[in-house]
Amino acid sequence: MASQEDLFKKIVSHCKEYGFVFPSSDIYDGLSAVYDYGQNGVELKNNIKRYWWEAMTRLHPNVVGIDSSIFMHPDIWRASGHIDAFNDPLIDNKDSKKRYRADVLIEDQIAKIEGKAEKEIDKARKRFGDSFDESLYRTTNPRVKGYLEQAEALRQRMAKALNDNDLEELRQIIIDEKIVCPISGTTNWTEVRQFNLMFATEVGSTADGASTIYLRPETAQGIFVNYLNVQKTGRMKLPFGIAQIGKAFRNEIVARQFIFRMREFEQMEMQYFVQPGTELEWFEYWKKLRLHWHYALGFPQSDYRYHDHEKLAHYANAATDIEYLMPFGYKEVEGIHSRTDFDLSRHEEFSGKKLRYYDPETKESYIPYVVETSIGVDRMFLSVLCGSYKEEQTESGETRVVLSLPPALAPVKLAVLPLVRKDGLDEKAHEVVRLLHLDFTCQYDEKDSIGKRYRRQDAIGTPYCITVDHQTLEDNTVTLRDRDTMQQERIAIAELHDLIAQRTSINTLLKKIEDEI
Ligand code: GAP
Repeated sequence: MASQEDLFKKIVSHCKEYGFVFPSSDIYDGLSAVYDYGQNGVELKNNIKRYWWEAMTRLHPNVVGIDSSIFMHPDIWRASGHIDAFNDPLIDNKDSKKRYRADVLIEDQIAKIEGKAEKEIDKARKRFGDSFDESLYRTTNPRVKGYLEQAEALRQRMAKALNDNDLEELRQIIIDEKIVCPISGTTNWTEVRQFNLMFATEVGSTADGASTIYLRPETAQGIFVNYLNVQKTGRMKLPFGIAQIGKAFRNEIVARQFIFRMREFEQMEMQYFVQPGTELEWFEYWKKLRLHWHYALGFPQSDYRYHDHEKLAHYANAATDIEYLMPFGYKEVEGIHSRTDFDLSRHEEFSGKKLRYYDPETKESYIPYVVETSIGVDRMFLSVLCGSYKEEQTESGETRVVLSLPPALAPVKLAVLPLVRKDGLDEKAHEVVRLLHLDFTCQYDEKDSIGKRYRRQDAIGTPYCITVDHQTLEDNTVTLRDRDTMQQERIAIAELHDLIAQRTSINTLLKKIEDEI
């Protein structure tokens, strides 16, 4: 079996080979941590965004959308705390001259120690077979227990240093753990310094007195500063939400794992404005509902987990991540945060404008509390690809690469294939395309053997292939091949539209979560 690292490499090259994701500026050798989405990638990405947008705005009559600008008044970032505190702790190796995030070096060390424990557990699993009780082994085997305790102690020491903003202690951990630079192999480290992650640029010409503005590092602030505009013009009553999808930019120093950590990425964020005192109930509500949104896609539920934050940011009174099991471990895909009235209060203070909500029931004015759900489109894209990529042995002994994408997210919903390019089968196939292409992304393919054409569609995750054969000319039926089972059913052309709509519509996903609301 391929290692998880090999599997991830295969997924990355599959993305390039099949038009999902290309390195940005490819012909100029790429630009680090920036990627472009290809012809299939953009369709998949748009479907993910649509699924999120409709789950937010259609399933919740009290959630509305906005689209705010990327450039905003610089004082917004002073108020939000990003200018002072949106930093990563960096350290340089004096020999290789390479720069690292201090916390990432320590996290890698933790992963290394945990890896040792996992190796022992794997060995024991093989040794004991079916009778193996993993949780008992984790807590009783002295060697495994030792590794896990060591990793946990290190994690806590790092969390405390980060929380206390203690840069010397972060460096000391790196020294104590004898962490070496992966390039030079030495422990010749500089001090740890804070580095702000926002990209700055200038508006106006220098002669006019240009001023520094920032590319937004999150979309959420565009929602906060528009909250009263939307509340008033939409006559919204608490609780209500504002959703937004848009680009965000962070000057990430450690850019790796493909589209997991990018410098230019997209977020889908929703701020839910609630009465003070009710925020923890709403936090639990959104925490549960967002997990169901992920579950509805049909990947194993054990591939998701919550990671509740023990150490909270000073403005939050609850926070959790939804993590997905990528080939490189469980990783954060989405965050759900109860942000109290921090952001709105700060904007009130910095703008000098009242941002109070007048509650017609209590006849009081107050600043609402906010529960936020924030998910990265690109991370979601990556999790969907990782969950869908499969290599299977067919009965004839070949390897079939298939993307078992949730049909509602698949970039191409169906392919129409004439069995041969003669006897009028190609014309009949074009007729079928014309019947369906306005409602479904559709491909026509007549090149190569039918087997090769099926494989091409499997590789991009097309859920259905329609084959037009000689019988079609006689009775207006076609074969409909299911991507996952490879089973074919004979079906009347007249029934195709409804059947495909029913099996590939985003509504099939929305219906699954509707009951949880
Ligand atoms: N408004 C809250 C906020 O921005 P965050 O945890 O910093 O919270 C939210 O980001 C989500 O945005 C993350 O869970 C992740 O999916 C995505 N994200 C953050 N930084 C990213 C990056 N550099 N590349 C890709 N996605 C990123």
